[in-house]
Amino acid sequence: MEIRKVGVVGLGTMGAGIAQISVQSGFETVGREVTAELGERGRATIERYLARGVEKGRMSEGERDAALGRLTLTTELSDLADCDLVIEAVLEELPLKREVFGELDRVTRPEAVLATNTSALSVAEIAAATTRPERVVGMHFFNPAPVLPLVEIVRAPDSSDDAVDAAYAWAEQSGKQPVRCNDTPGFLVNRILIPLLNDCVRVLDEADVPPEDLDKAMTNGAGWPLGPCALIDLIGVDVHVHASEALHGKLGEERMAPPARLVQMQQAGKLGRKSGEGFYTY
Ligand SMILES: NC(=O)c1ccc[n+]([C@@H]2O[C@H](COP(=O)([O-])OP(=O)(O)OC[C@H]3O[C@@H](n4cnc5c(N)ncnc54)[C@H](O)[C@@H]3O)[C@@H](O)[C@H]2O)c1
Repeated sequence: MEIRKVGVVGLGTMGAGIAQISVQSGFETVGREVTAELGERGRATIERYLARGVEKGRMSEGERDAALGRLTLTTELSDLADCDLVIEAVLEELPLKREVFGELDRVTRPEAVLATNTSALSVAEIAAATTRPERVVGMHFFNPAPVLPLVEIVRAPDSSDDAVDAAYAWAEQSGKQPVRCNDTPGFLVNRILIPLLNDCVRVLDEADVPPEDLDKAMTNGAGWPLGPCALIDLIGVDVHVHASEALHGKLGEERMAPPARLVQMQQAGKLGRKSGEGFYTY
């Protein structure tokens, strides 16, 4: 099925980025926030990033204005009634996501594709809140969504080929690099990266090396573009600890549990780049 109009539920960090991708790629897009103020905040974030694109010569002022003109805001899910694809990016809480999907099921056309950007919840459990689990898929973007190309297109047991293919095709049309995968904990990247980064942090203490030296080792010895400590600072220590706990809860492997050192950093407010201090000072 062809996607012409897109809805984005939640214009926080991820939702604003996803709405930006959508309008930049030429799709009429409706962004839904819980209050008009939050909606305007989401729009301001998109405006700021597009303005930077103009400054850097990546787009013209006319293209920026046209992109912004494709964005409408609402506080009502019922205003997403004529969307062909709705991407949900609300807080990572299963009851909330199920409530949103139950309502989307009632207000959107039966053939619309409903996608969740969940990082760690089961797409199947979210889809079960609807009467059309065959139209529900995962679309897992990476932060910052407008910059990182990957989108994991997640097929739950009941997802139809048509819904998966429509989500994949939309991501490609939007300049992304989608990959299809099953609905397993952590999908592809987080399933591998989370325990790997936790191993790196444990090695800091076991080998008694400073973060600078471990990053130097992995960039020069393993060809990583960024060292593991610099990467955790970029992801955010709190985000990584939360994701580790979620994966550990689902799969139970000890490597997935957040190392004590990271939990201590989180408690001390050393969250990485966003707080000005993590493994490094910014
Ligand atoms: N931040 C990341 O690195 C990242 C990466 C990939 C996926 N995700 C996933 O994206 C989703 C959103 O994460 P985020 O980082 O953008 O969070 P965020 O805190 O920036 O945004 C949360 C959004 O949820 C909305 N919200 C809060 N309470 C609500 C309610 N009661 N009803 C409806 N909407 C409500 C907020 O208004 C906001 O739009 C989560 O599922 C998260 O796991 C996050």
